[in-house]
Amino acid sequence: MLTLSNLNVSYDGSLILRGVNLNVPAHSLVCLMGRNGVGKTTTLKSIVGLVRPDAGSVKLAGTELAGMKPDARARHGIGYVPQGRDIFPHLTVWENLKIGLVVHGAKANGQVDRVLELFPILKEFLPRKGGVLSGGQQQQLAIARALLTDPKILILDEPTEGIQPNIIDLIGDTLVKIKKEGKISILLVEQYLDFCLAVGDSFYIMDRGAIVAEGPIAHLNDDIVKKHLTV
Ligand SMILES: Nc1ncnc2c1ncn2[C@@H]1O[C@H](COP(=O)(O)OP(=O)(O)O)[C@@H](O)[C@H]1O
Ligand SMILES: [Mg+2]
Repeated sequence: MLTLSNLNVSYDGSLILRGVNLNVPAHSLVCLMGRNGVGKTTTLKSIVGLVRPDAGSVKLAGTELAGMKPDARARHGIGYVPQGRDIFPHLTVWENLKIGLVVHGAKANGQVDRVLELFPILKEFLPRKGGVLSGGQQQQLAIARALLTDPKILILDEPTEGIQPNIIDLIGDTLVKIKKEGKISILLVEQYLDFCLAVGDSFYIMDRGAIVAEGPIAHLNDDIVKKHLTV
């Protein structure tokens, strides 16, 4: 579904991503892991169109995305939940969701009910300001907003960061449910190992801008964890 090939990215002349190859098959949930500062967010931004790679390709269902602006990529089926969630605090939950709708236009109407079914708390809180929601509620809002664009692939950057355990479980269950419905693949950047083990089908590990390990999630053993993930 999504294929990154030989992706190089630099900031201010220093190379941050070095030949990243990564594949998210249809119907799967792939975890991209790694310590702070290794290039996970930069990888996602290259997919979404927020940084411009020096070299390499980003293909979604066979279509080359390189050169496309973020809004065009969203229309092609990239749904993005950024690190820190980026909720508009002074807009209501409903207005925050509508910003997702704008990207997709009129066709999105049928999606609203479905998405609110996945996150019932949002339905209850539609008139509230985004800023008064808890971190976990804001994360649900950010995921719901991305789903309203009817993506082929949902990309999430550390959705469990700073969120209480019961909401982490709910988000994990929801991601698995979305994947099992069969229309959306998921690429998840995470540092929370147990979450990846619980929801992931396969993993990639990044270290200093390169992929250093990959495989089915069952192959994510203690040696790999010690070498590349523990601080
Ligand atoms: N806008 C930027 N300008 C310059 N350097 C950046 C920028 N964003 C990130 N970096 C650097 O690139 C590296 C990778 O960052 P990032 O992709 O955010 O890592 P991660 O998400 O794995 O923590 C880090 O060394 C970071 O300091
Ligand atoms: Mg990051």
